[in-house]
Amino acid sequence: MNILAVESSCDETAVAIVRDGRTILTDCIASQVDLHRIYGGVVPEIASRKHIEAIYGLADQALERTGLKRSDIDAVAVTYAPGLIGAVLVGVNFAKAAALALNKPLIPVHHIRGHIAANYLACPDLKPPFLCLVVSGGHTMIVDVQDYTKMEILGTTLDDAAGECFDKVGRVLGMPYPGGAALDKAASKGNADKYQLPRSKPGQNPYDMSFSGLKTAALNLIHHAEQVGEELDVNSLCASFCQAVSDTLVPRVVQAMKQTGRDKLAVAGGVAANSRIRADIMAAAKKLDAQVYLPPLSLCGDNAAMIGSQAYYEYLAGNTAGMELNAYATKSILGESL
Ligand code: KG4
Ligand code: ZN
Repeated sequence: MNILAVESSCDETAVAIVRDGRTILTDCIASQVDLHRIYGGVVPEIASRKHIEAIYGLADQALERTGLKRSDIDAVAVTYAPGLIGAVLVGVNFAKAAALALNKPLIPVHHIRGHIAANYLACPDLKPPFLCLVVSGGHTMIVDVQDYTKMEILGTTLDDAAGECFDKVGRVLGMPYPGGAALDKAASKGNADKYQLPRSKPGQNPYDMSFSGLKTAALNLIHHAEQVGEELDVNSLCASFCQAVSDTLVPRVVQAMKQTGRDKLAVAGGVAANSRIRADIMAAAKKLDAQVYLPPLSLCGDNAAMIGSQAYYEYLAGNTAGMELNAYATKSILGESL
């Protein structure tokens, strides 16, 4: 089954064609990052406009690159939530028009379910059940993936997402948007023990997390150094920050693996590209004797191939939509009715 998949929830316009949920025939992406960098973050109105400009050309490019004809497409999938509402709407309207014109099913996909599915593309042998640590720019959660479309959230951040904190700290340190990758690079040259940063334990649920205290502590440290004219060891601050994020995530994942008895652990989302987190997850999985799945960096960030992968399983579960499909800025991953 060839699925034409569309992703436009943030600042990447993407169109992919994925076969049977596991094979990427093509994955075309037009990134807007350079444009938003001028403003230090995503400007929603600009994002929507750029999606409109790029999306038709990308769909043509996807067909051209694969040599497929329009009639070879069996279904159209799209990220319908969550994301910047104007941005998501562009993808949803394009996908609705394409499904209508092709007379093929329309499959709505939750963006975070898509991030989890990036692992199906990277690891052909991965099948649920498994545990997944989702760490993206907008979400941080530990998900028990019981089946392709049946999930339970074991814990989540109670405030900021890990990626948001990377971006905020990166911005204050004068790093280009989005700050995560630059912070990661600087961290590799620093000493993670140099700065003491907090590891919060919020609430009753041992799997819940909090990052706002860590973000504030890092920002205070930077501002204080500026005020008293103290020279910061930026690389070591980045290393200490990455370590604090990893120390917030990894022990919870370990505990969740033990409690659920799962023996497979996957990681998903843009922050899954972080070297410290990747190394700590690998080490933890080794100790647990668990199989670990880490998508390559190209599949960690936003792309449409992951949407096409999850769409296949949504289709098999009967989760298609009609022309009344709407876009949503927020929506639970648990897949309550549309
Ligand atoms: O999943 P994603 O592409 O978009 C959302 O769905 O939010 O994640 C983007 C986030 C940004 O916050 C970015 O700074 C972060 O992923 N990121 C990283 C790294 N590469 C990207 N964070 C830490 N270390 C990295 N190497
Ligand atoms: Zn994402």
